[in-house]
Amino acid sequence: MAKERLIQRYKRAERINHWIVAGCFVLLAISGLAFFYPAFFWLTGVFGTPQLARIIHPIIGVIMFIGFFVQFLRYWKYNFFDKEDIKWMKAVPEILNGHEVGDVGKYNGGQKGMFWLMTACMIVLFTTGILAWREYFSAFFPIWAIRLALMLHAGAAIALIAGIIIHVYAAIWVKGTIRAMVEGVVTQTWAKKHHPRWYREVMAKARENGETSSKSSEH
Ligand code: HEM
Repeated sequence: MAKERLIQRYKRAERINHWIVAGCFVLLAISGLAFFYPAFFWLTGVFGTPQLARIIHPIIGVIMFIGFFVQFLRYWKYNFFDKEDIKWMKAVPEILNGHEVGDVGKYNGGQKGMFWLMTACMIVLFTTGILAWREYFSAFFPIWAIRLALMLHAGAAIALIAGIIIHVYAAIWVKGTIRAMVEGVVTQTWAKKHHPRWYREVMAKARENGETSSKSSEH
């Protein structure tokens, strides 16, 4: 069988970072939904007891925030919109039918929008979560501020959960994408089809560095 030509998309440290954030997100969504709506209260069982869920939720929240902050530092520079992204966004129905549009770089318009939504939600979740953290901080604030913080906290959580459902769906729907975050590599065919400008940049760098193997690394 012909050897697939691969390109590195994520290094090991980036993948570990991503899956720590994703794991924290799942635990936070489960415990958060349990606090939010009585019908989901049984979900606190995942943490042993409701009391334990209350103690653990904010601690995992801080870990997710730090993990996402590292991701933010890694990816912000790839997530500014350009005119090719506008073309991409205007053609979403066509793209959903399997035709890629625009000279897309490392991320497409949808991924960039998702990145900024994640960033905004993380900032709101973290600041309001700290303010409402009974153990250490909430005693310093008036009750109206805590109530407002918890409302914003729930709103940002719902927006993030909706966003992550789309993020996961897109990752599964575009064949070969999950591999990028599991093994760190994508095929050249995947890159050429979904991120043609990024593909050209990676290949140009590989040529500059005299790389000839079937696995070109990203720089
Ligand atoms: C829970 C299941 C999740 C799955 C299956 C998943 C899957 C993926 C995959 C496959 C990629 C690579 C996409 C590409 O290179 O084109 C990716 C990128 C990324 N993911 Fe996730 N992810 C999950 C959760 C999360 C969560 C909870 C967050 C943060 C709130 C997150 C933040 C990111 C970021 C920042 C990137 C970098 C790409 C970008 O800037 O859009 N992911 N994810």
